[in-house]
Amino acid sequence: MSDTKFFWGTSTASYQVEGGIENCDWAQAVQEGKEPVCGKTDDHYNRFESDFDLAKRIGTNAHRFSIEWARIEPEEGVFDEKEVEHYRQVIRALKDRGLEPFVTLWHFTLPTWFAQSGGFLRKDSAEIFARYCEYIVTQLGSEAHFWITMNEPLVWLNNGHWKGEWPPFVRHSILRTIRTLFALVGAHRRAYRAMKKIAPTISVGIAKHNICFESNNNPFNKLLSFCAKWGFNHFFLKKIKGNQDFIGLNHYILKRFGLPSPFPKTDMGWDVYPKAFYKVLMELKKYNLPVYVTENGIADSTDSQRAEYLKGYIGALMRAKRDGLDVRGYFYWSLLDNYEWSFGFARRFGLIAVNYETLERAIRPSAQTYTEIINTHGEKPLS
Ligand code: FCB
Repeated sequence: MSDTKFFWGTSTASYQVEGGIENCDWAQAVQEGKEPVCGKTDDHYNRFESDFDLAKRIGTNAHRFSIEWARIEPEEGVFDEKEVEHYRQVIRALKDRGLEPFVTLWHFTLPTWFAQSGGFLRKDSAEIFARYCEYIVTQLGSEAHFWITMNEPLVWLNNGHWKGEWPPFVRHSILRTIRTLFALVGAHRRAYRAMKKIAPTISVGIAKHNICFESNNNPFNKLLSFCAKWGFNHFFLKKIKGNQDFIGLNHYILKRFGLPSPFPKTDMGWDVYPKAFYKVLMELKKYNLPVYVTENGIADSTDSQRAEYLKGYIGALMRAKRDGLDVRGYFYWSLLDNYEWSFGFARRFGLIAVNYETLERAIRPSAQTYTEIINTHGEKPLS
């Protein structure tokens, strides 16, 4: 492990790729017909070794994945050592292939018992979340250096508690939503402290989804853009100041106030605009922390835009690095096609295509572009 090597990686999340998870809130929503069926998805739980062989073949040197909390703690306070052992094997399989593990502890899905008993609105939610994180680091802290407590807390909050489109499908008042937001801040801080107490040398952060907000010169639009940037991009990061060793940045989206968006669109309808990525990266400079791009990628079922996307977005990242941002890694979302939440299998983000009839994998042509980019920039020192 090295804190200064540049990591070229890929990202996945447990529920989206593993298959067979039936005891989390998302699975419950599927059982109730509120979200598309996920089932076996990529069966990555059983195929991680061959999937990591493919990651290696693409030329990456790191991989971000998540541990499914519901597997580890299927009942409140009851921990499953067999599942810990599974993830130990996952980490070791990565390291055997020269892939640095970046481990996320919570990527959107919650154990059913936790969700049903109030989730992060429980009074003791921070304690419960920190207990789980502490348990994992006690077991696996010596196996991996980079840890991410939570993925995109504001996206999770917005989709599940504000818009009511994801579990728990509630539309809370602004006050209640803010209360949950503070609970998430508290949960991260407590987890951070517990993890660092056990393993002081590990690096801990969150994966933060930041949007590029732009506006025309209309003062009202400028104000909207300013507030959105402050509230969505920076509030959480400021609140956890001193409790993060790096910033994990997830970036996909451009939001313009009073300006048209004349850019090509991905299969998600998101703009392809590398300059947005540059701007969002440079917004992080003031934190004086190492930045890892923990997610960035494109849904492109025909693989016709992905190569150009990679060149454009990684070009923007290189520019940010030249302009003084301490950015130390890029993780493409995703290694594999996977279950894209409410879209089911209808969106294809993978460098590797998955055939959902046979579960066969095929490296997409655009992965070659990623390999070439890695080969061109990969071995250069950071400065
Ligand atoms: C991010 C999520 C990830 C995936 C990508 C497309 O917001 O973290 O799970 O769905 O979007």
